[in-house]
Amino acid sequence: MTHSDVIIRAAAPTDGAALRLLMDELGYPMEHKVLQANLEQLATDPECALLVAEISEQVCGFAMAYTSKSLTAGKSAIIGHLVVTESKRGAGIGRRLVAELKDWTKRQGLTTIRVGSQTYREAAHKFYEDQGFNKIKTQLWFQQTLNE
Ligand SMILES: CC(C)(COP(=O)(O)OP(=O)(O)OC[C@H]1O[C@@H](n2cnc3c(N)ncnc32)[C@H](O)[C@@H]1OP(=O)(O)O)[C@@H](O)C(=O)NCCC(=O)NCCS
Repeated sequence: MTHSDVIIRAAAPTDGAALRLLMDELGYPMEHKVLQANLEQLATDPECALLVAEISEQVCGFAMAYTSKSLTAGKSAIIGHLVVTESKRGAGIGRRLVAELKDWTKRQGLTTIRVGSQTYREAAHKFYEDQGFNKIKTQLWFQQTLNE
C-alpha cells in the first residue's frame, strides 16, 4: 500500500455501514439507525468535519472534529473520533486524517486543536504526541440522560 492508494474524502450518508464497523473497532458499538441519523445530521454541519479514508473504494478509517467553545480556550477544534481499521494501521493513514483535521481547523480560523483519549489507549497517546500534540490533563467525564 502506498500513500497514493489512500483517498481522504468527506463522509457521506452512504458510509453508514462502514462507519458502524469502525465504531465497533473503536469500542463504541452502535445501532445502525442511531448512527445513520447522526451521520446524516453531522455530514452537513458546517461546524463539524467528518472524513473517511478509503483504499480501492473500501473505507478503512475515519476521523471527526467539531468546534467547541469555552471561556478558558475560547473557540477551538476537538477531535471526536479517530480510527483506522486494524489491518491498515501503521501505514500513515491516521497521520493523514489528523493533517486534514488540522487544515479544517485552520480554515475555521482556529488555532487550537484538542483530543481526549481514554487512558488505556497508550498507542494512540504516542501517535498524538508524534503528531505534535502535548498532553495537558487527565480527567473523568460524567453524563446524565434527561427524560422529558
Ligand atoms: C491511533 C490510530 C488512529 C493511528 O493511525 P495509524 O494509521 O495506525 O497511524 P500512522 O500510521 O499514521 O502513524 C503515524 C505515526 O504515529 C506513530 N504511531 C502510530 N501507531 C503507533 C503505535 N501503535 N505505537 C507507537 N507509535 C505509533 C508512529 O510514530 C507513526 O509514525 P511512523 O510513520 O514513523 O511509523 C490507529 O492506530 C487506531 O485506529 N488505533 C485504535 C483506535 C484509537 O485508539 N483511536 C484513537 C482514539 S482517541
